[in-house]
Amino acid sequence: MTTYKRFRVVADDPIRTLVEDFEQPELAAGEVLLQVAYSGINYKDALATRANTGVVRTYPITPGIDAAGTIIASQDDRFKVGQAVLVTGFGFGVAADGGWTELAVVPADWLVALPQTLSPKQAMTFGTAGFTAALAVDALEQHGLTKTSRVLVTGATGGVANFAISFLQAQGVKTIIALTRKTEQADYLKRLGATTILSPTDLPEKTKPLAKQQFDFVIDTVGGTQLSQLLPLISYGGSLALCGNAGGIKFETTVLPFILRSVNLLGIDSVEANLETRTRLWEKMATLWSVPAALQVNEIKLTELSATIADLLAGQHVGRTLIHLGGMTR
Ligand SMILES: NC(=O)c1ccc[n+]([C@@H]2O[C@H](COP(=O)([O-])OP(=O)(O)OC[C@H]3O[C@@H](n4cnc5c(N)ncnc54)[C@H](OP(=O)(O)O)[C@@H]3O)[C@@H](O)[C@H]2O)c1
Repeated sequence: MTTYKRFRVVADDPIRTLVEDFEQPELAAGEVLLQVAYSGINYKDALATRANTGVVRTYPITPGIDAAGTIIASQDDRFKVGQAVLVTGFGFGVAADGGWTELAVVPADWLVALPQTLSPKQAMTFGTAGFTAALAVDALEQHGLTKTSRVLVTGATGGVANFAISFLQAQGVKTIIALTRKTEQADYLKRLGATTILSPTDLPEKTKPLAKQQFDFVIDTVGGTQLSQLLPLISYGGSLALCGNAGGIKFETTVLPFILRSVNLLGIDSVEANLETRTRLWEKMATLWSVPAALQVNEIKLTELSATIADLLAGQHVGRTLIHLGGMTR
């Protein structure tokens, strides 16, 4: 019997991870079997390997909220054997086994056909990080973002922020301000498209209900107290697309930015985004936005995941790390 490899998180005490062999699984109606070419690693995936992080409820599990590859068996009329597809979000890698495996069982409802011009490797270079950035830029465009807007991107060296900076540049935005704790990465961020680099220490020390208007739009991947500092700095009619919580889930505000400056707080969720939105934005990534040449992309094997997980959890990871599982190398 042929066996395949997958990464597993097992709920022993303490919780532990391993790479194990498994046999080809059976499919239920409405599922496909995906030969995974590439998966990625996101902050949420790193959390899925640790106890009490609220990401996973049932163990054992194979993490990996993103995967792209080729269908090798299908129990759904919409998808055929040989078709290239991608999956991000929904319950993948969280409520059900995910993409850190050579073979993945995926409900067909979660699949997006891979755009013609995108390889599985390119799709996973974007992954949930790219898709989330696409949702954020799209939301800001629907709220008035133009080429002359001053746009701040926080957690700038992270995956979501890297794509946000690059997509904004592709949209022709002239003022892209990267807010990062790692100011030594300034050259890298400028190559991605940032025009100004700020450190959290450049923000006003004391948070007033309203302060000097510095940014028209914000893409925030950090949340926490830094978000409290940013809301009073957004200019009249501006918007903040809130994507993440790398710096914490709690923030404080007053009503003033909202009722005196008409500021919009826009929630961004990549997990349950509908198929129409997914198809539209993946097509945009495949054609207009593309993977930035400057993006730092690392490629690893299943057995090399532990170090990357530790870096991500320590806020030390830069760019995107892909897991190559076999099959197509592009
Ligand atoms: N809404 C959604 O659907 C969605 C989808 C994907 C991700 N997310 C969330 O978005 C956030 C970013 O995800 P990602 O994949 O880009 O993660 P990532 O690659 O780990 O980037 C997060 C960045 O945030 C900054 N950061 C980390 N810890 C911090 C702290 N304690 N205080 C302040 N800044 C900190 C760091 O940037 P600097 O060192 O440059 O400041 C880090 O590079 C995460 O919270 C993730 O859960 C949400």
